[in-house]
Amino acid sequence: MMPAKAHKVRATRGEKAAAPGTLVVEHATELLTLRGPPGPRAGAAAAELGIVEDGAVYVEGDRIVDVGTASDVQSRHPRADVRIDAAGCVMMPGFVDAHTHTVFAGSREHEVEWKARGLGYAEIAARGGGILSTVRATRDASEDELVRTGSKRLRSMLASGTTTLEVKTGYGLRTDDEVKMLRATARAASLAGVDVVSTFLGAHAIPPEYDGRPDAYVDLVSGEMLEAVQATGLATFCDVFVDEGYFTPEQARRILEKAKVAGLLPKIHADELAETGGAALAAELSAVSADHLAHASGDGIDAMARAGVIGVLLPATSLASRLPFADGRRLVAAGVPVALGTDFNPNCWCESLQLAAALACHHNGLVPAEAIVASTINAAHAVGRAGDVGSLEPGKQADLLVLDIPSHRHLGYRIGGNAVRTVVKRGRVNAASH
Ligand code: NIG
Ligand code: FE
Repeated sequence: MMPAKAHKVRATRGEKAAAPGTLVVEHATELLTLRGPPGPRAGAAAAELGIVEDGAVYVEGDRIVDVGTASDVQSRHPRADVRIDAAGCVMMPGFVDAHTHTVFAGSREHEVEWKARGLGYAEIAARGGGILSTVRATRDASEDELVRTGSKRLRSMLASGTTTLEVKTGYGLRTDDEVKMLRATARAASLAGVDVVSTFLGAHAIPPEYDGRPDAYVDLVSGEMLEAVQATGLATFCDVFVDEGYFTPEQARRILEKAKVAGLLPKIHADELAETGGAALAAELSAVSADHLAHASGDGIDAMARAGVIGVLLPATSLASRLPFADGRRLVAAGVPVALGTDFNPNCWCESLQLAAALACHHNGLVPAEAIVASTINAAHAVGRAGDVGSLEPGKQADLLVLDIPSHRHLGYRIGGNAVRTVVKRGRVNAASH
């Protein structure tokens, strides 16, 4: 990341000093405030960015105090400790990554060769690759090792503009190892200086010791494991991989109903590899989100719209596993609020929501403005943090980006770069850099 073009401004004699820890970012060619009505944005509202030309944001400590045109903000708040000139740039809220599996041990680079030779996700799993190979590595790893590798990845995501993200467990699949993942994730987040929301994904695969006894494993997940997770107080959501070869809707219902009673909100990996009723189940359970949706049926999508379930698109996974891209255009047309994630996991090493946004525009049928709503305010709703992040409004956390692009459309247009010039995280300028 380039160093911030920030300089200190001191109060001259006789002037009132600026409040402690104040910052102004000003003269953004486009300030995308994402300001709007409460609740996830759907339909026409899903493309509204709340653009202010020649915009500015004034920050005190870790909070946004004022947002508007540079001249209005300047007249209300003439002094600040630090001023950043964003002329020629886009300013927007920090990205919120709605779906990741960022904390795990080992890596699966050898699977790229298998993919290149035409093997699919299920064939790779059958060869001893896939989720269960990462489970072996993660069970063998110490908590400290997960913190070390996890925090490195989180720093790199922050340098690409991700200031808040969801991270799932699901590579422990034993009570102690799932709890180890939750603890490691919380420590990694605090080291890296990002905000993480954790999801318990004990039902990510059937571990080898339960081979052929899936219902006994579902008992463990919805019993002892869930209780131990609840006792940590570290998880907000509970997720189940509902798909061919993984968990059935009936098994997911058992887990997610117990999870709700334990205070964890439901999410579902839905219809990624095949249509097995994941989207419809998400609607039935009023899940916060149904994620992937590459094979979701029209009926499932309509049921999600009626129930207000957020659809999380993960285009990098479609790229990494040669799966169809979910029909984002259809989701928007049906009135489903859409969010975006990288799905960072050992099968899909993608740190950049900028890349996910570009893929969403090129392959999921989102227009750039929709991809930006999906990766900020709607993703914040999908991870339960919309009260604090996802838009630039007074009172919210000062998480913002200065992007070296002339208009927001370049976020959908540029594939694979990093447009981030400056990251402000909780009021701190360039909290991370490569
Ligand atoms: O979201 N679908 C299930 N879980 C991940 C993949 C995890 C893995 O392959 O390790 C996903 O794509
Ligand atoms: Fe996933």
